[in-house]
This record gives sequence, C-alpha cells and structure tokens, in this order.
Amino acid sequence: MYPPASPALRRPLAVALVVVLCLATALATAVATVTLTRSSAGSPGASAPAPAPAAAAPVTTVASAELATNAAYQQALAAAPPSGKPNVTVIGTGGTIAGVATSRSSFTDYRAGQIPIADLVAKLQPEIGVVADVETIQFGNKGSGSYTVAEFHALTLAVDKALETSDGVVVTSGTDTMEEFAYWLDLTVRSRKPVVMTGAMRPTAAVSVDGPGVIGADGPANLYNAIALAGSRATSCFGTVLMLGDEFHAARDVTKTSSYRMDTFQTRELGVLGWIDGTNVKVGRAPSRVSMCNNPAKWVTPFDLTTLPATDLPRTEIVYAYQQAGGEGITALAAAGVKGIVTAGTGAGGVSADQSAARTAAAAAGVLFVSTTRTGSGSVYGSTAPPVVAGEDLLPQKARLLLMLSLGFAKGDQAKAAAWVTSIGNPEWSTAGRVAANPAQAPAPAA
Ligand code: SIN
Repeated sequence: MYPPASPALRRPLAVALVVVLCLATALATAVATVTLTRSSAGSPGASAPAPAPAAAAPVTTVASAELATNAAYQQALAAAPPSGKPNVTVIGTGGTIAGVATSRSSFTDYRAGQIPIADLVAKLQPEIGVVADVETIQFGNKGSGSYTVAEFHALTLAVDKALETSDGVVVTSGTDTMEEFAYWLDLTVRSRKPVVMTGAMRPTAAVSVDGPGVIGADGPANLYNAIALAGSRATSCFGTVLMLGDEFHAARDVTKTSSYRMDTFQTRELGVLGWIDGTNVKVGRAPSRVSMCNNPAKWVTPFDLTTLPATDLPRTEIVYAYQQAGGEGITALAAAGVKGIVTAGTGAGGVSADQSAARTAAAAAGVLFVSTTRTGSGSVYGSTAPPVVAGEDLLPQKARLLLMLSLGFAKGDQAKAAAWVTSIGNPEWSTAGRVAANPAQAPAPAA
C-alpha cells in the first residue's frame, strides 16, 4: 500500500498537479487536454523541436477531471520517488515479445519465449534509463497458454513482492492468454500501485536471441511504453491494465480479437482507458475501482492469495454452446470433479436442450454455473444466486477465473461465491445500484 506522501515528495510534480487541478476546476474537455499535452511535448505543429532521446522529458500525466478530484489517486501521482525517477520492475514470462524468428521477415514463423527479459530491457538502454530505473525478474520464458493456475498464483505473489519496493510493475507475456494473466492479476494483486501487462504480435529478434531485429517488431516500443506507463503512476488504483500499440485497456474488459493483427486488443463497447503519445500519458477514463482508491480495505478483493494455497483453488471450466450441442461435456466435467462451469452461451446466454438438462443434473450434484455469452460483447442477465449466476458482460474466460477464485475463497459456500461473481465481476460507477431502464421500476428519487 502507499505510504503517505511527504510534502517534500510532492514538490517535484507540483507542475503536473497544477495542470491537473486547473483542468478539474475549469472542467476542461478532452480535446483541450490533448492539445495541451501535445504542445508541451514539442509535437508536429508546436514551435519547440522534439527533445533528443537521451534527454527525453519524464512522462507527464494529465488525468480526466474525475480523477483530478480523487485525493488518493492524486496522492499516488504526487508520490514521486526521491531520485525523481520511478523504479519499475519488469517481470518476464515469455511469449512472442521474447520470440526468435527464422529470418528478419518471418513475422509468423518463430519460437516464442526465447530471449531473457533482462536482454529485452537492455536493448532499450540508454533511452529507458531516462524514464525509469528498471529491474528485471525472469519468472518464466514460454508461451502464455502453457501457464498453470499454480504459476498464476505464484505470479501474483511475485508482483506484490516487487511492488513493496518498486513504483510500478510491468509483466510481459504472450498475447494469446494475456487478457487472462491481466484479469487474474487484477483480481488478486493487493497493491494499488500500477501493474501493466504487455507483449508483442511480432517476434523481436531473428535467427538467435541476440540476432538482428525483426522488421517492424512491436515488442521494443511496447515494452518501452509499458515501463513509461507504469512509472508515470497514471494507472494507480486502476488495478491491472494491458498496454499494446500505445493504448491501454482495463484487464476486465479487454480481449484479443485477432490471431495476427497488430491492433488485436480491443475493449468492445467501452473502449480504451487511454493512450501514450511520446512522453504524454493520456487517461481518458478509469475503471470504477478507482472510486475506492481512498479506501484500501474496499479497493482490494477478498482474494488474498497469501492465505490460500493454489491447491485449494477448484477446477473450473468453460462449455461452449452451439446448435444441438450435446450435454455430455457438462456431465463429464461434473463427474471429473469440476466445481464450477461457465457456459459460453448463444446470444443472451442460451444453451441447447441437452446442455440445459445436463446443467440441471450437475447443479443438483453441487456444480455452480455462470452464464455468459459467446458473442464477445453484451450482457447476460438473470439470477444472482446459485445454481446459475448471470455473468453479465464478463467474457467466458474471465468469468472462469473469477468463478475459480470465488469458489476457492468461499470454501464451499455457493451463495457467497455467487455474490462475489456478481459484485466483483460487474463493478459499476453508480453508487445507488443499477438504474432501471423502465422508470416504473426505478427507485423513488431522494427528497
Ligand atoms: C503466446 O501467447 O505465448 C504466443 C503468442 C503471442 O505472444 O502473441
């Protein structure tokens, strides 16, 4: 957790704070904010030339007016380290960003998880050294899809440990399941300091780990910007964010939408949280969790992994719905001891007749279900109690992790697990509960 910032530590960022508070007071528009930050960076059209890389200005943060009024968020921004430069720990797990291709133009023919994370960071020197003091931890070096729940559990502890001394953490991983890494960390990391996931869609080196760079490799720029974002503290209290291609997204909402496209990560319906343009971090919106930044006990989830070994997390699985889908998948999973099943249903959560019958039988045997949609966006509404809980707009692969944590920490109390899936899985900005679309169902306005 953040120690209270001393007045001396706040001084170095006084200018940035004044900008933020002026924006809040004036209710400045997003357009005005972008104009201000661009000109301060000497972008095309501004009179000052761009600074040389080795003398690059520190990342500045201009938050939205909403964030400017959040005292704890502002304190996090102001808590500049005495050196004036943030400490960022980069934890490497592998993936394409650490990949070695067969040639400089082999964008799709490569081996992921080859280059050590220390080498990837070293290649960003001396420029990255102007932005942050960077340490590295090699957690693993393999494809994202081969990580186990036990390794996810250990990764959370490694991130929290690093955040005891670092101002922010960057975790690199393969992009295939990066959204699951991100949501897992979002649900389990206890520190409110920034955690940024990043990776790449193109391998970094050709022929060998220290070979020439692959043409158009995105990894170096993604890693550079992820370190800059973590060091800026702009996403303090956001939970984990995912940064690729200069844009950052909320862990809960982001998803990989294309197997090969560079702009694969999208947050359908809600959009990005913000972006990084040169030395400017622009925060356009924030996860609702930020509203609890002032209250650490409420900001954290109940999922404190220091109190629960990985072996106590039950198996949870996903079953896909389609035309005349058989029920045998659900029946077999229940027989194998799976405690929770997420259905990726058609449309607003539909499952076939056979799946429905199998679900009823499995629920009677003690399996908890979460109903989601296979459409990739939109909500599933319904019950908030066992045996079938509506997952709303949680993607199936995210709901499955939340169901696992909820069942594990509820220790057999299905009602408690269901309540966590509903509340933690579906945070909202409204403090008065959901606003009914039908005015007849809306609560009476306060007198
Ligand atoms: C992986 O997810 O490990 C491979 C694919 C990638 O990193 O983009």
